[in-house]
Amino acid sequence: MPRVYIKTFGCQMNEYDSGKMRAQLAPAGFVPTEDMDDADLVIVNTCSIREKPEQKLHSFLGRILPQKKVRPVTVAVAGCVAQMDGGNIFKKYPGVDLVFGPDAVAKVREMVDAARTTRVLDTEFFGADGYPFPSDLDPDASGRVGAFVTIQKGCDNRCTFCIVPSTRGDEVSRPFDQILAEVEGLVGEGVREITLIGQNVNSYGLKIPGAPTFADLLRAVHAVPGVEVIRYTTSHPRDMGDDVVACYAELPKLASHLHLPVQSGSDRVLRRMKRFYTRARYLEVVAKLRAARPDMVLTTDIIVGFPGETNADFAETMSLVEAVRFEGSFSFKFSPRPGTPALRLMDEAVPDGVAQERLEKLQAWQREVQLAAHATLVGQTVRVLVEGPSAHDEGVVCGRTSTFKMVNFPGDPALTGQWIDVRITRGFANTLRGERADAEPAA
Ligand code: SAH
Ligand code: SF4
Ligand code: F3S
Repeated sequence: MPRVYIKTFGCQMNEYDSGKMRAQLAPAGFVPTEDMDDADLVIVNTCSIREKPEQKLHSFLGRILPQKKVRPVTVAVAGCVAQMDGGNIFKKYPGVDLVFGPDAVAKVREMVDAARTTRVLDTEFFGADGYPFPSDLDPDASGRVGAFVTIQKGCDNRCTFCIVPSTRGDEVSRPFDQILAEVEGLVGEGVREITLIGQNVNSYGLKIPGAPTFADLLRAVHAVPGVEVIRYTTSHPRDMGDDVVACYAELPKLASHLHLPVQSGSDRVLRRMKRFYTRARYLEVVAKLRAARPDMVLTTDIIVGFPGETNADFAETMSLVEAVRFEGSFSFKFSPRPGTPALRLMDEAVPDGVAQERLEKLQAWQREVQLAAHATLVGQTVRVLVEGPSAHDEGVVCGRTSTFKMVNFPGDPALTGQWIDVRITRGFANTLRGERADAEPAA
């Protein structure tokens, strides 16, 4: 049986797409392997959101391509770098057999077949009509506690820093019934936690008059028997409507955690980023969410050093994070991306040293907030849905709270998939440590 090794960089979309590739390749006899050196087909699913992730493709190909001299192996480059660079990848890396973008995932089987005899390139975008959302379930999802379900592809926003609109194309909402069928299928495989994914999930369905909205979708997923936790990512603050906020009061399975990327606390910078909300609007959404769900935990994404960002702008970002007290954030220095509108602002580029200083200040504050929030949990008992054995500690399992906190505690891997009450004994910056609050049942 041929073996396939898939290396995934980037966001949840890529992880999900890799799962769909495994699903498409399974009927052709491809068995997933964890060992790249043993694989007949190697697919690298790439990310181009910043310069650094893009460089990972280069080092990865540097490891796999030399193997072609000593054994037959098909090498495919997929994902967002493939979409951007297309045929140039063949020029740069002559050993690559197949290059395809995110919209071609549904065709991976045919492409791999064709790549036996010729180089294959597919970076075509599909239109909204009949967009081929693959429906086969990721074989790896079976037995997992949580799984992603895509609800839309692409993005219609044009945030000036962002390359995603050119790598993923225009937004297309996935038909409601297809989403529910996938949720039901996953629950049938034992999945309990569903994370709905898209670049801007709050705009789900809005382009189709009379179509169900994202709030309708949340309610429908909530009604699927067997679904125990619902999460979603990513939300755009502009499109976070009152109907979705109301779901937090109405739907108990909806997790008490929201990732709501703010990018900057300065209205001037937000305008130049074309985010189409103000700091005040963002804070208003946060207040509404906390009113609807008092234990709501918020996390965010922040870019520092966007072209033209002044000390005063950065101070606004600091004061915003101090006001909201996010309990997690992904923060990055602005990275100029090919073809994005922000390139026109590069004469106001922030020197790297300044951006680095701002990033460190922000991250140090962030760490303090997390440590403080986690210290208040010590001694408290929290419910966690156990995800499986800890990757690092023998005899320890990990699970997440509704608020998305990772909790490690001594326990049997057989607890996977169960809800367990855990007394927190120690808080770290990113995780919590605890022990079972209920007595261990006698064996
Ligand atoms: N659709 C999501 C974000 C997807 S990209 C949203 O609208 O929030 C994930 C994160 O990468 C972004 O939130 C942003 O913080 C960061 N990012 C995107 N482009 C970037 C760039 N050019 N430089 C630095 N960070 C960037
Ligand atoms: Fe990029 Fe903005 Fe779309 Fe998010 S909403 S994917 S940041 S263009
Ligand atoms: Fe990266 Fe593409 Fe996702 S650029 S962040 S893999 S949409």
